Order: sequence, then structure tokens, then C-alpha cells
Amino acid sequence: MERDNGSTQRLVVDPKHPNPSVIREAGAVLRQGGLVAFPTETVYGLGANALDPRAVTGIFRAKGRPGDNPLIVHIEGPEALANYVERIPPAVSKLAERFWPGPLTLVIENRNKFPAVVTGGLETVAVRVPGHPVALALIRAAGVPVAAPSANISGRPSPTTAGHVMDDLAGRIDLVLDGGPSGLGVESTVLDLTGRNPVILRPGGVTRRELEAVLGPVELDPSVDGQAPGGKPRSPGMKYTHYAPRAPLLLFEGCGKESMAARILAEAGRLAGEGRKVGILACEETAQIYAREGYPVVVAGRRSDPESVAAALYESLRRFDRMEVDVILAEGISEDGVGLAVMNRLRRAAGGNIIAGPS
Ligand code: TXA
Ligand code: MG
Repeated sequence: MERDNGSTQRLVVDPKHPNPSVIREAGAVLRQGGLVAFPTETVYGLGANALDPRAVTGIFRAKGRPGDNPLIVHIEGPEALANYVERIPPAVSKLAERFWPGPLTLVIENRNKFPAVVTGGLETVAVRVPGHPVALALIRAAGVPVAAPSANISGRPSPTTAGHVMDDLAGRIDLVLDGGPSGLGVESTVLDLTGRNPVILRPGGVTRRELEAVLGPVELDPSVDGQAPGGKPRSPGMKYTHYAPRAPLLLFEGCGKESMAARILAEAGRLAGEGRKVGILACEETAQIYAREGYPVVVAGRRSDPESVAAALYESLRRFDRMEVDVILAEGISEDGVGLAVMNRLRRAAGGNIIAGPS
């Protein structure tokens, strides 16, 4: 269904104590086959009734998402899994106890309970229990599992505010619940439990170390660093360009912060000499170095605190669109903790334009 911009309703909701009448209304929209964007503790999601193939098809249409990229099913608690999955692997119970509700998505066998449009035709399904009061209340009110990818146009940075959702999807969806900024700023960790060993398909809010404390050794899928050797990625979403601002982004990694700044300044000078408008994505510690030279700088958190970088990342990438720069030079950070997820998203936004540091 085509809609004009004004036909997407935006309802403000208290993020800690969601207004019951707003949540009831949103739940009814989902039950009737509509599309509702809502805050989670990671990024905003675009939800539809996961048991209604027509409604789920609407998500793909609204986002322009390729049909072979499966969706995450959001449920209200681990107990709800028993309704949809025949055999719950013991690892699921252990992980659920420690990390749900929270930013961990588990890939398990599907057994035909969820329609093929949700799973991209795979024999597995990805599920998570979100840790945001609005998301949980919405799933409960809907009374159905909610399939929800990030609420952005496919390929764009994920939305961390209702404003980002409106920028991308106004006129294409029924309703946005505006609960203020989402918390973490990067998506959930996607963990595949269907093989012999658990494998991280997408790094996210729960770190590898945290998972290993519960499960023992956890592998990292080769596609995570963007260099899957020929083979087909196990997480279909990982093969598409992602999280990208409009201008091309050049990512600088793997060097100490002083030499990184020197190399970025040199490249900025060269590009500016060609008449291009250069924007720089920097951490607080080094932002002044570029600003002093007159470059527009977007500051994304502190290098010493990867969580602050994660929280600011997508908003920062979207700011470059508003600044209309021709090219973005981005500082890399350490891959410790949630830094791995940040670097994974930056590498994808760079689409291969990566400058390695001196070794
Ligand atoms: O934090 C999040 O996970 C957010 C919020 C809204 O929950 N959602 C999100 O969804 O990031 P999306 O669609 O943007 O990313 C889902 C990822 C994709 O990389 C997809 O390929 C992967 O999960 N995925 C989904 N089902 C899968 C499956 N059965 N097997 C392997 N990967 C799967
Ligand atoms: Mg996404």
C-alpha cells in the first residue's frame, strides 16, 4: 500500500513506563497486519506479526530489503519459545538465563513454525527477547511473536531515534513509537547454535568474552571481518553493503592514535587539494587535531570507552549526510569488547575502503 508522508503516525511513549493505551493501540496495529517501528535496547526495529506472511512481506517492501535476508523474531520471554520450537538446545536455556532480555539473538532450528518469508527460506530461525520496556510491552500487547529488522531503508545506518526512522520510512509504515534514543546503539550479537560449536555470525551488544564465560569456546564466523573466503556467509545479511552513509567512507585502522591522526590529516589534505569536501569521524581524544586544521569533524564517543562510540556511531554517520560532505575519513578503534561490533559496522560502511596501519 502506498502512503503519503503524513500517513505514518508517530506516538510518544515513556521509555520506562510505556503508556498502556498507546501500547494497546500499537499491539492492535500489529495484530491487524500493520507495520510498527519501536525502540529496543539496541536500535529501533520495524515490527510485523511473525506468523502473518503478508504482514512480514510488508517489512521487506518498506525497507527495500532483499528477500533472502531473514528477520529476527522477537518474543516476550524464553518460555514463549516452547510454542514455536520442538527441541530447545540446552545452550539456549543457559544463555537465556544469563542474557535475556538483552542484545543476544540465537539462531536455532525452525521446524516450519515460522513462515519462509521470515527465515529467508532457511531451516533455521533467529530469535531474541529484547531488553527494552516498550519492546516487551508491545510484544505482549500484540499477543504474537514480532518479526523485526532494524527500521532503516536497507543499506543505510540503523536508526537509534524515532527521527531516524521517520527520515527513512515516513509514508511507508503505519506507526512509530517514539521512546527516545535506543540504548546501546549497535545491534544484538547473532549467535548460531545449530552447528557443532557456537558461532558468532554478527558481533553486537553481548561480547564474545561474555558468551565464552557461559559456553566455553565460541567461534567467529569468517564473514565477520568482511573477508569470507569465497564461501557463502552463514548469516545472509552479512553479504550486503550495510550501515552506509551517502558519502564514501575510508576507514583507518590498526595504528596508534598519534600516527593515525597524522595519516588521516595527510589523506584529508590530498583530498581537499582535489577540491573535495572532507568530513572526519573522530573520537573525543583526537577530534581537536582535525578541527584545528579546519575540517568538519563529527565526534563519536571516547576511544577509551567503546560503549560511548557504539552509542554515537549511527547518529554520527547520519550527520555526515546532513553536512553533505563528499568523502568521510574515519578513525578506527580497538576491537576490545563492543569495539568488535563497532569496527564490524565501520568496515561494512567502508565497503572495503580500509587503510591498514603500519604493523
Ligand atoms: O539488535 C537487533 O538485532 C535489531 C533489533 C531491532 O532487534 N535487529 C536487527 O535486525 O539488527 P536485522 O534484520 O537488521 O539483522 C538481522 C541479522 C541479519 O544479519 C540476518 O542475516 C541475521 O540476523 N539472521 C536472521 N535470521 C537468521 C538465520 N536464520 N540464520 C542466520 N542469520 C540470520
Ligand atoms: Mg539491519
